Amino acid sequence: MLTLGVLASGRGSNFQSIIDSIESGFLDAKTAVLITDNPDAYAIERAKKHNIESLVLKPRDFADKNAYYSYIAGEFKKRGVELVILAGFMRVVGKALIEQYRNKTMNIHPALLPSFPGLHGQKQAADYSVKISGCTVHFVDEGMDTGPIIIQAAVPSYHDDTEDTLSERILKQEHRIFPYAIKLYSEGRISVKGRKVIVNVGRDDALLINPPF
Ligand code: GAR
Repeated sequence: MLTLGVLASGRGSNFQSIIDSIESGFLDAKTAVLITDNPDAYAIERAKKHNIESLVLKPRDFADKNAYYSYIAGEFKKRGVELVILAGFMRVVGKALIEQYRNKTMNIHPALLPSFPGLHGQKQAADYSVKISGCTVHFVDEGMDTGPIIIQAAVPSYHDDTEDTLSERILKQEHRIFPYAIKLYSEGRISVKGRKVIVNVGRDDALLINPPF
């Protein structure tokens, strides 16, 4: 069984989709701990409800970014975390964590990377008025949403979409592909060569775009 450590800053609906996937048996994993940088994150309530330990760690209580992410890495290691999940974690993760969990840290981003990295990916896409948008699960590297891409899902983007309507459409796909990416990882189907992620789904790789489940 794969041991997860989750980082989240807010609402935590992606965290919830992972919890639900575990509880339904879709995912053979357990969440050892939720760490948040935000004492008001609703993700904390979700953790409580499901008897998952949570820690609030604020960057300003640490000497610098390196100290913050070293501490987080230590908390994950202590609990035997094998895969780190960024479920709406609104910070650029520091080297100290990335180096401890290289190609073992997954992030969900609400746009089809490499388009619209950073904050408000959905607003960026709506403002640009693209015709297709979506979401991306990728491994985290030192850049801003630049790490190797594992899986993507596309959705239409309409001329009268607002940030909210597009976000809602994308979020539905986020809740599908994030647990799926974790499942593929837990089954040992994912390997990484440079920036290429090779996923052995036993079928066509094209299924990693809008997977059929
Ligand atoms: C999600 O849309 C996620 O893709 C996005 O924040 C939202 C968190 O929602 N993440 C980023 O923008 C990271 N740069 P949630 O808290 O309900 O999962």
